[in-house]
Amino acid sequence: MRNHLDRVLYDESTILARLDEMAGEIARDYEAKELTVVAVMNGSLMFMADLLRRIPLPLRIDSIGVSSYHGETRSSGTIEFTTQALPDIDGRHVLILDDILDSGETLHAIRHRLTTERSPESVRICVLLRKQRPRTRQVDADYLGFEIADEFVVGYGLDYQERYRNLPLIGVLSSSHIRD
Ligand code: IMP
Ligand code: MG
Repeated sequence: MRNHLDRVLYDESTILARLDEMAGEIARDYEAKELTVVAVMNGSLMFMADLLRRIPLPLRIDSIGVSSYHGETRSSGTIEFTTQALPDIDGRHVLILDDILDSGETLHAIRHRLTTERSPESVRICVLLRKQRPRTRQVDADYLGFEIADEFVVGYGLDYQERYRNLPLIGVLSSSHIRD
């Protein structure tokens, strides 16, 4: 899989060192609060597992499934919820976890559903990556791992046509492996 990449952006030890810092910040902010983490599947799988094991709080973990890509490298803008049931978050502090903030459509739609169909005490957003580009929706990350250029990346949960999620690092997918 490594030879499908143009270059590596962040190797595993760099990612984990950054997660140590983010976990410390989140643990301080939510100390003595009722926290529910809502992980966006499947992209935040690795991020969730590695980040949450570093947070020594009695938090709850839930997930929500969305799909927006349909095999392209740009979000279609149509967000499809692949899980219909919403987590029970009334009165709780919610931290939405996703792999990447790109156009903002996905996180905007998720936050909108969680706040209109449920009554959480607060909602914040935590992403591993944020792309440097204009958002089509007003949404930003409260916690951020790394800011990246507007390139298509894979690995560490991020996919291209459902592949590369299990790469233990984040890299730029070579254009010769993009078929859209
Ligand atoms: P947005 O709705 O445009 O913000 O896109 C968010 C979703 O698109 C993320 O949760 C990812 O699943 C996917 N995505 C955006 N950029 C990339 C990328 O560079 N590589 C892989 N997936 C991406
Ligand atoms: Mg994806």
